[in-house]
Amino acid sequence: MPNASEPHPTTGYTSFELGRFSFSRDEYFVTVSWPARETQLSHTMPVDAFLRALVRDVAWGFFYGWVNFDTVLGTRNRYGRVELYAGRYDDSYHRAGLDYVESFDTPQILDTFQAMLADWTNAGFDPFAAPAETGTSVFGKKHGTNRAAIERQREVCKRMPGLPGDACLRSDESGYPVNRAFADVDQTEPEVHAEPGFEHEVHAFNLFKYLSRSDVTWNPSVVSVCRNSLFCPTTEEHILPVIHGNDRVEWFIQLSDQITWQVSDKETGRPRARVIMKPGDVAAMPADIRHQGFSPKRAMLLVWENATPGLADRYDAGELSPYPIAL
Ligand code: PHB
Ligand code: FE
Repeated sequence: MPNASEPHPTTGYTSFELGRFSFSRDEYFVTVSWPARETQLSHTMPVDAFLRALVRDVAWGFFYGWVNFDTVLGTRNRYGRVELYAGRYDDSYHRAGLDYVESFDTPQILDTFQAMLADWTNAGFDPFAAPAETGTSVFGKKHGTNRAAIERQREVCKRMPGLPGDACLRSDESGYPVNRAFADVDQTEPEVHAEPGFEHEVHAFNLFKYLSRSDVTWNPSVVSVCRNSLFCPTTEEHILPVIHGNDRVEWFIQLSDQITWQVSDKETGRPRARVIMKPGDVAAMPADIRHQGFSPKRAMLLVWENATPGLADRYDAGELSPYPIAL
């Protein structure tokens, strides 16, 4: 059970404690506090940015490596346990000894994060939607809930999209509508001419059509698995709500429109690069960086992940170079 307060008499929101961290929200902000030296420090984030990061950390099971909510607060996945930190990867806090890290069993931190998400997400606010689509109901005193948005489960297709019995919500007109940003995306499926006898074994589908019907932003889904090689396309509008610190190399293939990436050192946050990706561009994101994407118009991006077990430890130990290509 999460360690939760009574609802605040004015705003209606509950506060939470997790280890020696405490979290509270008001009409516009979330305040996190932690012990540092002989005192207690606190940090404030806009509540909309906080909830967008929180819903992804929960839905992704703490993801690969680091999920920074901003430059101060975040989680590190230790696969079975999760470290929650404040200031640890901010050079100023860390050097001044004012940072704090506490490790939790994954179910314990997940439980608190889910309770916080449920209590702080008001009716009408969908933290997976683009800001222009979900409006400003996130602000103000507590009014209602939006369980459907925060408890969204990954859709699991039974077969490749388009095959009979696929159980996939995005493969035809009966599922999600085409997003307003993708009204010009061709909805026709490819023609497949199979050799006689192979009609039931050969199939192709229109990935652009599939992605044009995505109802969420910045939420990669796995569309193909070849051993540990995962193709995770996603549709992106506004800002990636987390600053992701990679614990392995990953590749980006820009499928449409344009995304600008701010790439910084994983440990200190010092700027490393700005990458402007246009359709057809391919980039390798090294294992020693953190990055955040900016997408002025909803764009299609293919994230190529390597899910090889034990990979994070091998990069951590310096056994593997953080760069996929030696120049
Ligand atoms: C990433 O961290 O590489 C990432 C995460 C979510 C996205 C895109 C990229 O939607
Ligand atoms: Fe990443």
